[in-house]
Amino acid sequence: MTAPLARFRPTNLIHGADYYPEQWRHVPGIWDADMRLFPEAKLNTATLGVFAWTELEPAEGDYQFAWMDEIMDRLHASGQRVLLATPSGAKPNWMAVKYPEIRRVGENGQREPQGFRHNHCLTSPVYREKVGQINTRLAQRYGRHPALLGWHISNEYGGYCYCPLCKASFRDWLREKYVTLDALNDAWWSRFWSHRYTAWEQIDLIDEYIHGLRLDWKRFMTRQVATFIRQETAPLRQHAPAVPTTINLMGHYDLYDYHELAPEVDFISWDSYPVWHGQESAATPHWQIGLETTFLHDMFRAMKPDEPFLLLETTPSQVNWRPLSPLKRPGLHRTSSLLAVARGSEGVCYFQFRASRGSNEKFHSAVVNHDGGNDTRVFRDVRDLGQLFQKMQPLLGSRARPVIAVLHDYQNRWALQEMQSPINQQKKYFETCLEHYTPFWSLGQGVDVPGQSADFSRYRLIVAPMLHLLLPGTAERLTAFVENGGILVTTYLTGYVNETDLCFLGGFPGPLRKLLGIRAEEYDALPAFRQVPVEPVPGNRLGLAGSWAAKEVCELIHAETAEVIATYAGEFYAGTPAVTRQATGRGAAYHIAARMSPEFLADFTAAILREAGLVSPLPTPLPVGVTAQTRTADDGREWLFLMNFNETPATVPLGPGTWYDLETAQVAPAVIALPAVASCILTNRPLP
Ligand code: GLA
Repeated sequence: MTAPLARFRPTNLIHGADYYPEQWRHVPGIWDADMRLFPEAKLNTATLGVFAWTELEPAEGDYQFAWMDEIMDRLHASGQRVLLATPSGAKPNWMAVKYPEIRRVGENGQREPQGFRHNHCLTSPVYREKVGQINTRLAQRYGRHPALLGWHISNEYGGYCYCPLCKASFRDWLREKYVTLDALNDAWWSRFWSHRYTAWEQIDLIDEYIHGLRLDWKRFMTRQVATFIRQETAPLRQHAPAVPTTINLMGHYDLYDYHELAPEVDFISWDSYPVWHGQESAATPHWQIGLETTFLHDMFRAMKPDEPFLLLETTPSQVNWRPLSPLKRPGLHRTSSLLAVARGSEGVCYFQFRASRGSNEKFHSAVVNHDGGNDTRVFRDVRDLGQLFQKMQPLLGSRARPVIAVLHDYQNRWALQEMQSPINQQKKYFETCLEHYTPFWSLGQGVDVPGQSADFSRYRLIVAPMLHLLLPGTAERLTAFVENGGILVTTYLTGYVNETDLCFLGGFPGPLRKLLGIRAEEYDALPAFRQVPVEPVPGNRLGLAGSWAAKEVCELIHAETAEVIATYAGEFYAGTPAVTRQATGRGAAYHIAARMSPEFLADFTAAILREAGLVSPLPTPLPVGVTAQTRTADDGREWLFLMNFNETPATVPLGPGTWYDLETAQVAPAVIALPAVASCILTNRPLP
């Protein structure tokens, strides 16, 4: 990063939409209508220019900005700010034909035909140069435009390219990293199945059986995207240094290590498309979608924990790319939007403002649909939220400030994906992180979801589920965290491999063995019909009582110096430790050796929260499916968002203390009645 950070500090809660005026340039009356409908929908921001390259440069070097000049001015006149996109997410046909090297090559070695989008080579110097040229012109022309709020870099970077340029660049990167082939062969354990490389050129296939190679390829591809972003942003920073940049990330996407991309931009955005009302199994309660969406907000926010983030895309109602997309039920639009704000988003934007007339996304919902007016349910939902956002202005600048972290790490996720192991069909890394996160959500405790390279010193409690791969320094930093008074929780499969996927020798959990005071010897893989009871040790220091079930994975551990909190009560390993605690310095490290039932996780989490002295904002337990999330202002004012994600009503007692309702400015009742999928915003000080 060369340029100083531009800060993202909007003066309004952002309420915006992706806007494609170029699709309607030749249709009379549409731009006029749009300039009326934007403010009518209580929107204040338009994302402009995503995929607009052919309209900006219809032939090589023939730049056509007149239409964008006009629409920028008109948006400004109608009270809108603009997030201006760089157009690299879709390349023009003329470019793909003239410069075949910019077209991506698949894993099968075949160059892709021009089609779809997000299909450029990440390495091609020609493509990088073309992007640099158009970005420079955009920056020179619009960098000082009064409507400009920020730069939206490309769109949802994605995919890998396996072309000769990328492979050659990969080999250069490896040379720099390992210096010698011997070092590389050792790091990748490539004598296995006679894969040892004796010349750099032999590194060609991204072989799924060499896990160290696979991890390095993913790191390299992440690096290519990072340098691509750096090249994209350089002219923007040069010509408009005060205008912040962002990239829009995707919820479950894991081809890149997003933590490595975050430093390249000034603020994080993400695109959220949960399957509201459409869960695959009738047995999955609706609130779990709210839970998972909260987790993702917490993950993206934690990529820059001191900065606000932005929910840059969500649908006003349905998407058109899933097998089935139910309409958003009444209340959901408001509640899912407030969830984003509760977790630190400075607003909500939609894909898309006006539904396109043709091609692939014409039946994706939009603020303005094909009838073109404002008399629709979706338009009213959007407008109502915009009106509410106006009332919510006082909370702008407040932050979610969690002191609890549930780690989710991309490189660890890759290692678990690649791993061939006794639990291939039930690795469930993401699901496990979510299971450990659930009790905090249910208790109204705010959580960050950072990776293993995060600054741990900001937390008091860290839960690190299945931290199988330890990057250099992680064990030392976790040790320092505990010594300084932190509480750490690890689980089965922690500390098995190093950065290049080589097993730690001398006993798992490798470099965490001393901190946890245990040695993990082997783990059992349980089929669905077999569960193992786990029982607390009488008089254990957490005060745990009862009995719980372990499922799917049971690690067999020895408590070397750790205190045993619970033991297995079944199978041939009955009586051996299932949960341990090791005190170190001013803190303690717990290890949960088995995949435990939700009941155990609820009991255990409540106990360690007590140990950490972290109290919930409201009397607990909250009703199932209800969460309470807090934003705190610099002056200490709290904004408490109460959200019911059940499709049935719920009541929430507020307990002692006075809360004020943001919408009525009145003292809130002692018990809040929330209808189905509903929300309210409370604050602990009177409203002005
Ligand atoms: C993604 C893209 C948008 C659009 C939406 C549709 O998020 O960024 O361009 O295709 O999906 O849901």
